[in-house]
Amino acid sequence: MDKYLAEMSVGTRNEVKKIIKSGQVTVNGIAVLKPEMKVNEETDKVCVCGTDIYYKKYVYFMLNKPAGYVSATKDNKYKTVIELIKENNKSGIFPVGRLDIDTEGMLIITNDGALSHKLMSPRKHVDKKYFLVAEGSVTDNDIKQIEKGMDIGDDKITLPAKVSDIKHYTDNKGIWTSMCLTIHEGRYHQVKRMLWAVGKPVTYLKRISIGKLKLDEKLSPGEYRQLSEEELKLLFTS
Ligand code: URA
Repeated sequence: MDKYLAEMSVGTRNEVKKIIKSGQVTVNGIAVLKPEMKVNEETDKVCVCGTDIYYKKYVYFMLNKPAGYVSATKDNKYKTVIELIKENNKSGIFPVGRLDIDTEGMLIITNDGALSHKLMSPRKHVDKKYFLVAEGSVTDNDIKQIEKGMDIGDDKITLPAKVSDIKHYTDNKGIWTSMCLTIHEGRYHQVKRMLWAVGKPVTYLKRISIGKLKLDEKLSPGEYRQLSEEELKLLFTS
């Protein structure tokens, strides 16, 4: 019981044990006082302080990834995005796809392998939209190449992409371009390599949406929250 309630994010194992011993947990209407009591999460009706606990097999979080973290569950050298997730039970969770260590923005963290496959499989072509800043002035001709599909040194040219919200500006360090770029694949360093191929290196990169789901701009870099039911629907139908 204590393990199950901790996994359902009621509290830490120790907190949950105290709650159980205080008689505030019922199973099928009967108070249980023993943390070691077995529970069938599919059939038993568990209540804590009068609130029903529903069994959730999968968890889904939206993280606004900050720069400086690797998209991995373990790393010998760098901090991982999983370290930013402050949940009691983090077993089996992983980031869906990878953002480079210096890339910011939307990362889904889950324990649902099927969703991960659906969103990241190259054959499924789910849109990924990025905001970027590049050195130099991205020209109309560059945009044509990017949108048509281009050679970035792989066996195949890239799939057609979409550029929007393009702006040019100048400061004391030179000319810069900011723009949004939507791609339908997830090749290694793809956005950086596409801009590099037109001679405009990326200096800032942030993912702002995956499929129909947009990054919640209320999340500061490093913050995360659970996805709502509606947001999950958006992801599953992307
Ligand atoms: N493309 C890149 O170059 N880097 C990322 O992190 C994501 C897409």
